[in-house]
Amino acid sequence: MDNDYNDITKVIEIFLHGFRVGYLSYYIAEELNLNPKLCHEIKTAGYFHDVGKLLLKPEVLYKTQKLNEDERKHIELHPLYSEYIIKSYIYSDIILDGIRHHHESCDGSGYPDKLKKNDISLIARILKVADVYDALISKRIYRDVSYSSKEALEIMEGEVQKYDQIVYAALKSIIDNPKVIYIMYLFNNCFDKILKN
Ligand SMILES: [Fe+2]
Repeated sequence: MDNDYNDITKVIEIFLHGFRVGYLSYYIAEELNLNPKLCHEIKTAGYFHDVGKLLLKPEVLYKTQKLNEDERKHIELHPLYSEYIIKSYIYSDIILDGIRHHHESCDGSGYPDKLKKNDISLIARILKVADVYDALISKRIYRDVSYSSKEALEIMEGEVQKYDQIVYAALKSIIDNPKVIYIMYLFNNCFDKILKN
């Protein structure tokens, strides 16, 4: 895709993904019987986890070819940018931690701090699972292909060492829930309409 699509579309894409990840994370947290306050903090972190992408270079963020090392490092700055932006508005350390660490992996292969399972907060482990699942099943500006729920879970099974197993099991148990399907449909449907206009 050309790199000159308008900034509003970029913002809407980031927030629709944020809403889906926020709701998915909320329902995972409910499934894990976390307290209601924490469930809402997790949802809020999901809403804003990728706003730092607004500070990335569009030609790198939406590049469809393989990224080089410098471009990959540039993309990996976005959780730090998200934390930097949101800390001016939200004063919850739990939410800010989730935003900063939503790309950490349990096997230590994530970023920006390369944390391992026990050092990654529960909120970040939930956001990670919800974020990857949504990225696989949803259409994005830079990727036309999207996967079914079944295909997405099969892909995630192939890299299951990256995820908290209890959180991953909770994701699998909620994805067929009608309220989850509705939320995912609602925010994907909006994006479909934007793409067509
Ligand atoms: Fe992200």
